[in-house]
Amino acid sequence: MNIGIIGLGFVGLSLSSVLASKGHAVIGIDTDKKKCLEIRNGKSPIYEPDLEKTLKNALKKSLKISDNFSLIKNCDMIFVTVGTPQKINGEIELSMIKKAVKSIGKIIKITKKNPIIFIKSTVIPGTTKKIILPILEKESGKTADKEFGIISNPEFLQESNAIRDTKCPHVIILGGTNTKYMKRAKAFFSKMHHNVPIIITKYQTAEMIKYANNSFLATKISFINQLSNICQNIPDADVDDVASAIGLDPRIGKLFLSAGPGYGGSCLPKDMSALINFGGSVGADTAFLKAVKKTNDEQINSIISLMKKRLGSLSNKKITILGTAFKPNTDDIRDSKSIELIKKLLKNKVKISVYDPKALENTKRIFGNKIVYSKSLTSALDKSHAAIIMTQWKQFELISNKSLHNMKNKLIIDSRRMLAKKELDGEYYAIGIGEKR
Ligand code: UGA
Repeated sequence: MNIGIIGLGFVGLSLSSVLASKGHAVIGIDTDKKKCLEIRNGKSPIYEPDLEKTLKNALKKSLKISDNFSLIKNCDMIFVTVGTPQKINGEIELSMIKKAVKSIGKIIKITKKNPIIFIKSTVIPGTTKKIILPILEKESGKTADKEFGIISNPEFLQESNAIRDTKCPHVIILGGTNTKYMKRAKAFFSKMHHNVPIIITKYQTAEMIKYANNSFLATKISFINQLSNICQNIPDADVDDVASAIGLDPRIGKLFLSAGPGYGGSCLPKDMSALINFGGSVGADTAFLKAVKKTNDEQINSIISLMKKRLGSLSNKKITILGTAFKPNTDDIRDSKSIELIKKLLKNKVKISVYDPKALENTKRIFGNKIVYSKSLTSALDKSHAAIIMTQWKQFELISNKSLHNMKNKLIIDSRRMLAKKELDGEYYAIGIGEKR
């Protein structure tokens, strides 16, 4: 199979690497020449476990990387994996995907193949049918469902597990019309992923499934965060014990019930805003989704108020932020709650030092010399009035009394309850745990 992949972010690059490793002839396209060069040299532009290893293996096999769209003219399948960020008003920004699809349309015009175009980028319901399909038909002068296929194929992979999720998805969604292209797509995916359910549905439903999935995950997180704020005010209560117990009820499930500083990243916050915006535009009441978002927006304040309660004025205090990535095993800081916290603390004239095993370079791009970047956990804690654990990096579990030795004031605020079972000198407060009685 000749396969083209447009957009080499973490979704496109993982897919290119996995498909090429499986023996398909894959051409990965990205308009960023520098990024293409880096990838061609076997270097992943993002930190993602197993990605670089899979990429190197794929480059040895049949993966080609280029910024030249015309190379996809012999492709049987073209996956669109470009970003769909959000505008300031929460609406989805489609300019990148429209541009990519125009270029694909021009290729369809000259190709002798009847390719299938898969839309993997997250787009609001109606986009594939009402916007993308007409662009492809206009640019190619050919008819969808006859001379080429177009299928909505949302993805559910998680950063930091991108390779695992690309190889073993929990479901395949194919949205579109029931044509020979759909049959071809179904055969392709069932061969690639044995025993994975394939759901064939209409375009709009496929697009909606993606938003339903992410907004449900966001709902679980806001739910447990709200309970965590209640638990924190009950002596001896522990939100993790509550979560583990309710998680045993199969109707609830144990995943995504880990309380913290709120959900961040490039997907959940953006998709919640886009869904609220879209729901409003079709006249639906989105009060529930808005409450989920509001809970998330306010969660960071519970950390700040815990800090103020213990330190009084924050002005000129040195505070150490442990973890700036939006979750562990990534260097991604997009919409990270840690970045939001640092911005708020800077407004309070706090002196900040940060440590993150992978995300310091990205953090520097935002804060420059406004904060101090430490190469190690212990140097970050040196002379600090308080430390806040924001990202659940495994190595923070190793924090001991020795690590706290040089702190000015041994105050730890743990937004992930990583040290809850340890006996530490000094004061320890965790989100979701009531004071010991
Ligand atoms: C999310 C979805 O989980 C993927 O299924 C989806 O494909 C992806 O968005 C996307 O739309 O591309 P991701 O952004 O990688 O994946 O991150 P998650 O693992 O969902 O975590 C999001 C945030 O929620 C993180 O800040 C994490 O710390 C937080 N979180 C997660 C919690 O606070 N508690 C939890 O129990 C789980």
